[in-house]
Amino acid sequence: MSVIRWGVIGAGGIADRRMIPEGIIPASNAELVAICEVSDELVNKVGEKYDVPPEERYTSDVEMIANADVDAIYVATPNHLHKDQVLECAAAGKHVLCEKPLAIGVEACEELVEACAAANVKLGVDFMMRFHGCHQKVKELVAAGQLGTLVMGRGELTCWYPPIPGAFRQDPALGGGGAFIDMGNHCLDVLEMFFGRTRRVSMMIDNLVQDYPAEDTAVCVLQFESGALGMIDALFNVPDDACHNALEVYGSQGSITARGTIGQASTGELEVTLVPDVGGYDSQQEREVAIAEIIKPELPNIYQAHIEAFCDAIINDTEPPISGEDGLWNERVVEACYQSARTGRMVGV
Ligand SMILES: NC(=O)c1ccc[n+]([C@@H]2O[C@H](COP(=O)([O-])OP(=O)(O)OC[C@H]3O[C@@H](n4cnc5c(N)ncnc54)[C@H](O)[C@@H]3O)[C@@H](O)[C@H]2O)c1
Repeated sequence: MSVIRWGVIGAGGIADRRMIPEGIIPASNAELVAICEVSDELVNKVGEKYDVPPEERYTSDVEMIANADVDAIYVATPNHLHKDQVLECAAAGKHVLCEKPLAIGVEACEELVEACAAANVKLGVDFMMRFHGCHQKVKELVAAGQLGTLVMGRGELTCWYPPIPGAFRQDPALGGGGAFIDMGNHCLDVLEMFFGRTRRVSMMIDNLVQDYPAEDTAVCVLQFESGALGMIDALFNVPDDACHNALEVYGSQGSITARGTIGQASTGELEVTLVPDVGGYDSQQEREVAIAEIIKPELPNIYQAHIEAFCDAIINDTEPPISGEDGLWNERVVEACYQSARTGRMVGV
């Protein structure tokens, strides 16, 4: 097998916006075969756009999973549907790449990891920002010890998200939370690339602008196993044009600011300041401002890179690049964050 045949459940959202055109179609080892959407109108619209034959367009996920001649299924539906759909895929012997979060709650994620292992199918989770060329470069610099001892990292993901009737992200029963489970979990996954796993968390959430049940503001302070600290801010209430989507990493010998890398686009650059000979305390506190280097690594498309790596894992029977276990771990931290927000206490993971 050298090309993985894909079906997509929930083809009309992020699948249509990014994963099908940027990931599945251009991937060298993937082929789009079948799609599923909730209505004839939507499935035909997406099907025509990507030349999916009418007999491979489904309006029932159960029917697509049972009947489509596919090796793998990309689940890109609202969060509350992931669990049942991934279980169905596993029962049918299909490999699954599920959108983040893997499912709502640790228990559900554990069930999915176990079901896929028992069915001997690969399970992946789409934290595709790991493939960003800038994040890979930060990982490389950190691993080479260029920043010295890491002390602090910050990840921010923000968008303007006004009330929309029926939007799953605005109803915790459907989304599992608000800005944090939707966007903060990406920041967490990226920070853990550099800092390692999270040990404990403290989060505050609120609704400061948007009038819906899910939080529009989440700020979390984390401590990693290494002792280094982190901060994640996820906001649904700042205009898109005013968002920085910042990523910052600080160490005893330097710092990195990534610009335009946290998000769905495969764009951005790094501002890297390395100070290997720190010297003594400067009581004058005069700062050199021009010592930062701008690094622009190669930036492969993050959706294509993930799909190709996941297909490779199927073809070579190896561990998926971002596994179900990774999705379970992420949800474990996210659940601890919400527990902290509810109780007003710091929570160990
Ligand atoms: N990794 C990323 O870049 C990224 C970006 C956005 C969203 N997401 C994740 O993707 C998932 C979907 O988010 P979205 O923004 O695309 O939402 P969306 O509402 O825009 O799209 C979801 C699609 O699923 C369809 N759908 C709903 N129920 C279905 C069912 N039973 N069978 C088939 N199709 C069904 C809807 O009609 C809709 O077209 C969420 O889990 C979200 O967290 C990931």
